[in-house]
Amino acid sequence: MNGADERGETGAQERAAELRSALEYHGHRYYVLDDPEIGDDQYDALLTELRAIEAEHPELVRVDGVISPTQRVGAEPVSDLVKVRHPEPMLSLANARSAEELKAWVLRMRNHLAREGIEDPAFRFVAEPKIDGLAISLLYRDGRFERGATRGNGEIGEDVTHNLRTIASIPLRLDVDDPPALLEVRGEVYMSLPDFAALNERRAEAGLSTFMNPRNSAAGTIRQLDPKLAADRPLSLWCYQIGVTDGIGFESHWESLQWLRARRFPVHPDVVRLGTEEDVVAQCEAWERRRGSLEFEIDGVVVKVDQADLQRRLGVVGRDPRWAIAWKFAPTTAVTTLRDIGWNPGKFGDLHPYAMLEPVHVSGVTIKLATLHNEEDLARKDIRIGEEVIVLRAGDVIPQVLSPAPHVAERDGRPPPPAVPARCPVCETPTVKPQEGVFTRCPNRDCPGRRWQLLKHYVGAMDIDGLGEKQVGLFMDLGWVRTAADFYDLTADQVSELDGFGTVSAEKLVAAVGASREQPFGRVLFALGIEEVGGVTGRNLAQQFRTIDALMAAGVEAIDATPGVGPKMAATIHEQLHDPIMVRLISDLRERGLQLEQAGAPPDAGALAGKTLVLTGTLPGLTREQATERILSAGGRVTGSVSRKTSYLVAGDSAGTKLAQAERLGVPVLDEAGLLALLDG
Ligand code: IVH
Repeated sequence: MNGADERGETGAQERAAELRSALEYHGHRYYVLDDPEIGDDQYDALLTELRAIEAEHPELVRVDGVISPTQRVGAEPVSDLVKVRHPEPMLSLANARSAEELKAWVLRMRNHLAREGIEDPAFRFVAEPKIDGLAISLLYRDGRFERGATRGNGEIGEDVTHNLRTIASIPLRLDVDDPPALLEVRGEVYMSLPDFAALNERRAEAGLSTFMNPRNSAAGTIRQLDPKLAADRPLSLWCYQIGVTDGIGFESHWESLQWLRARRFPVHPDVVRLGTEEDVVAQCEAWERRRGSLEFEIDGVVVKVDQADLQRRLGVVGRDPRWAIAWKFAPTTAVTTLRDIGWNPGKFGDLHPYAMLEPVHVSGVTIKLATLHNEEDLARKDIRIGEEVIVLRAGDVIPQVLSPAPHVAERDGRPPPPAVPARCPVCETPTVKPQEGVFTRCPNRDCPGRRWQLLKHYVGAMDIDGLGEKQVGLFMDLGWVRTAADFYDLTADQVSELDGFGTVSAEKLVAAVGASREQPFGRVLFALGIEEVGGVTGRNLAQQFRTIDALMAAGVEAIDATPGVGPKMAATIHEQLHDPIMVRLISDLRERGLQLEQAGAPPDAGALAGKTLVLTGTLPGLTREQATERILSAGGRVTGSVSRKTSYLVAGDSAGTKLAQAERLGVPVLDEAGLLALLDG
């Protein structure tokens, strides 16, 4: 217990200020001067204490416009990272954009080898995804991970060993009996799409700016000076090459990848070795089709000649090896005219802009609409109605407007910047902008646009199969559904008469709605659509108060005492729970038989009473949801991140940074069997 919980407002403020300046000072000594005065553990303790205070007092994250060291983001000045020279330059790749260009590359290699006296070489090729991240080099000396660096300009990169150490899949020691004197492994660091989405969600919730794309987010993270920040932002790695070596050699690229994989380096499982150009082209096209369903972004396929002796004979031309080429996917940007800007209210009324475009083809898809995130994003992009803009389509995600088309931005007499609407485009209520830095909103809680979003949120949170945004909109238009409670009054007869439904599908839908009555209390709290109440907070509130009546009777201070809830959040939650529309919804849901009480043991009984657990990775026999429910039923709590307050980390397969964090803080780690044993008391 570090006292953050009982400390008063001013005490917390003072202590936070002390901690901030201590962290800045020691951070500078350690990362910049390389002359630390305190140990890692002491530094960690300061940071953890500050994090704990900020969790209770989110208003302290930013003081006088200065962001806390717990939140520092964005690339630091280049000079702060140590420059290192790569033992061998990190090369770039020539491109091929079609089957013809790929065949031309093979022909160039044949001609080159013929001049070297090698007629009719029997090429083997290896085809790999071209990951859209950052190239890095990992140096192992006598089997130990010694240094990791970014590519930089290819000759000179930056030492980011401290951050690479936080990537759990990078072996710190080579798993070999007789390690080579020197081994350089090269690969691409990236942020997976789910991790990127979760990071941005967390940042948005914390009121921080969000990253534009996974690549920027990975680049910003790897170049952080503070490895604790990198540890909080999950990075991943695929290894694709061996660089310099001393004491080990490989006959082929394929062999080197097998060797890496066997030493537990992450090598993508779908890298293949192929014998003909036709197979290579087919493989590139297959990757292009798969592109949207991968967990990470790729911008092409890298094709390499497999045989090491042929690679040597082919050599380098300029900065590109002759023996490798990047097959680039069809372009995903296009230029088109911005016809208009539309605005949609979100579930709390905040207005989200979107672009209406002159239809345009981008990688095989016609785009008419594109997202613009929020009014800040719109202003930053400086686009104007009637002008040409650049549209981007990346994988399966919603297309985005990037910027004005080249030259447009320098024009004189541009149209005025698009205005934020003075009235809600759905219900025409005058909009409000509560304060600077907060988005303009529709204040009407009964706005059909807001209600549609709330209902979509409800069916998503309650996991109701077969109820998508289309059906929700249709039921609203028909006047059948106004609030979530109305879903429970739908009958199969009624639904079966609609286009697109038959008796069976209507019955299924009604059954799915009915089944959601079994969702636990915490889930219902989340589904209500209260600002600040996400899935985790919903569960924690349910655990803390046990019944909706107790929660409704609680004051702001009592709500504030819930794990993961701070004073500002508590005030918002309290206010929204007592809004007449919410009070009515809760009573209607109670009438429809929803779970408004927590099952299981109260927090001061049960095998896990008073314990806080964090889950990470995949457990063999329990889903995340099941494990959480079991812990809650035993009186324990589940939070999202590891701190000194965490009683146990439950780690399954592919546990990442949370495991590293727990090990650093000395938090006990359990596997599934350990958790089950605890649950059994
Ligand atoms: S090989 C031959 N393999 O692409 C040495 N690079 O345009 C060149 N990249 O800087 C690198 N995935 O950042 C190679 N499977 C892969 C790759 C890959 C992504 C990146 C890497 C490099 C750039 C070259």
